[in-house]
Amino acid sequence: MNTKLLKVLPDIPEINKLNEAAEIIRRGGLVAFPTETVYGLGANALDEKAVAKIFTAKGRPADNPLIVHIARVREVRMLINYLPVGAKELMKEFWPGPLTLVLPRHPRVPQIVSAGLPTVAVRMPSHPVAKGLIRVANVPIAAPSANRSGKPSPTTGSHVLKDLAGKIDAVLDAGPCDVGVESTVVDLTGEFPTVLRPGGVTLEQLRAVLGRVEVDAALSGDQSPKAPGMKYTHYAPDGDLILVEGAPEDIARKIAELYHRYCREGLRVAVLSTEEHVFRYRQELNPEVLISLGPRSMPEVAANKLYGALRECDRQEADVILSESFERSGVGLALMNRLEKAAKHKITV
Ligand code: TXA
Ligand code: MG
Repeated sequence: MNTKLLKVLPDIPEINKLNEAAEIIRRGGLVAFPTETVYGLGANALDEKAVAKIFTAKGRPADNPLIVHIARVREVRMLINYLPVGAKELMKEFWPGPLTLVLPRHPRVPQIVSAGLPTVAVRMPSHPVAKGLIRVANVPIAAPSANRSGKPSPTTGSHVLKDLAGKIDAVLDAGPCDVGVESTVVDLTGEFPTVLRPGGVTLEQLRAVLGRVEVDAALSGDQSPKAPGMKYTHYAPDGDLILVEGAPEDIARKIAELYHRYCREGLRVAVLSTEEHVFRYRQELNPEVLISLGPRSMPEVAANKLYGALRECDRQEADVILSESFERSGVGLALMNRLEKAAKHKITV
């Protein structure tokens, strides 16, 4: 299959290209498109066969459900049985935007979308190209992140092509995404609203609207990502990512020590640094791959850069990637969640 590259401007996407992409969706094909978080791989959510192609193209396990994207708030009604408590408030405050709500699924939504669950995850993206595509296609669009399963999510059109060229019909390329990490997933079908995945909308913002919001136990426990022998393939670069946590000064010292150790073993070592330590690493270590994720106090900058940085480490064929860690507040919670999931080891100093 030849993957068609459709380049568009992010703010005023060309209608011809939206039409072309929308036609592919309506005919049961796959189109990758930008959202404000990451690129999604879209298919008509009401077309079972089309949705099945997403799983094949990504190599995604069939038990991992997809998010359905809509362009207008009222479209949520056709996908669900009823609106649970709290849904209206969250939709009013955060849609369009990086918030996904898990809601009771209407039988009209094919089982395959939700991997057989009685719920469906719905999100209304704010990116003009995403909104335009959904409107023109005039169907809800099921879309996971447009990466090969297990790899870092794509935040540019070229990331998508790197992973999926030849496997999908087209890419709408509108340049880099804003947020850089995926949407926050909140389950509204349980006793209390529960964050299943931290993301672009922060826990603090959710609590400001709803009061009580729980965090899924799997997220709040000790996240040491590598229980021995446990396979861990989320967001993972090819090289082994080692995440170093602790006071900034201790982190820098540990990274220097590890850098020397791995270099002595003949490995190619990349460093993901906070802005504050870039100069120091450059002076003391001078690594071939040194990427700044921005100031420690601005996790939103690091979130925006993270997936691109991990992909750059792959491009540079790093064997080991040493990364600093960030505070778990604001978007820092999502950032640290992705770093931990991508990490082979976590070291606390
Ligand atoms: O920002 C985003 O959310 C991006 C863009 C493209 O919208 N999409 C995205 O999709 O990250 P994906 O498939 O990579 O992640 C969807 C997450 C998965 O963790 C999945 O398990 C969860 O949402 N999810 C989807 N449907 C669910 C459901 N019915 N119940 C619980 N979790 C669900
Ligand atoms: Mg994903």
